[in-house]
Amino acid sequence: MNLEIDILNHPLPKHIAIIMDGNGRWAKSRGRIRAFGHENGTKAVRTTVESCAKLGIEHLTLYAFSTENWKRPKLEVKTLMQLLISSLKKEMNTLQKNNIRLNAIGNIETLPKKVFDELSHVIEATKMNSRMTLNLALSYGSRDELTHVVKEIGEKIKNNIISPEKIDESIINQHLYTRNLPEVDLLIRTSGEQRLSNFLLWQIAYAELYFTKVFWPDFSNEDLYKAIASYQKRERRFGKTSEQLN
Ligand code: IPE
Ligand code: IPE
Ligand code: MG
Repeated sequence: MNLEIDILNHPLPKHIAIIMDGNGRWAKSRGRIRAFGHENGTKAVRTTVESCAKLGIEHLTLYAFSTENWKRPKLEVKTLMQLLISSLKKEMNTLQKNNIRLNAIGNIETLPKKVFDELSHVIEATKMNSRMTLNLALSYGSRDELTHVVKEIGEKIKNNIISPEKIDESIINQHLYTRNLPEVDLLIRTSGEQRLSNFLLWQIAYAELYFTKVFWPDFSNEDLYKAIASYQKRERRFGKTSEQLN
């Protein structure tokens, strides 16, 4: 509680991104199957989403399924897809109640039709909500995203819509899945792994990174506050000297 009050007295990150990792190991440590970990992971999603909205975070981006995750055993992929459908159905109320807009980033056309339809339905139903945007990264991979960007810009050059000299960072930003989102301020990864696993490589160029050993299903409000408190202690220099900032 004290930590919550404390972080509210300092500038908050506008955009938090989370690599929700460790569901499988969480289940294994309890002698349960991986699906049990994924189910419990959805509870941490709900508390984290609600908590971020209450704090006043404007954008929360959650890595839920990567382009590489398609390589997992068929049954696990199926379980994850079913869990997505049921969570979208179940959490629609939570989103409406908290005035949260849902958005998806990733190659979402590759999702099974039922997932795609449910996702589109919730995105459409929450599009007027304004307190926070929840971005779900689904079938998302940074290299895949950047490949799309290059293809799209290439097409536009071919059709004389853009000239190569005009390409700058802002044009690239406008072609990313995250085109309408602000920069990521804080990237959190749970489960002790210290890698990015193909997540938002361009967008986190200047994000503050925070790694915690906590497995995702155990990630609590207190853990979120700790991550934000750590972020608030950092000096973001963006290439400048400390003296220039003051
Ligand atoms: C994160 O947990 C969930 C997804 C990647 C979908 P994992 O399933 O990767 O759990 P670990 O890393 O095997 O413990
Ligand atoms: C990253 O976790 C993807 C998600 C959290 C959705 P993984 O567990 O798939 O990452 P690696 O394969 O261990 O790097
Ligand atoms: Mg993992």
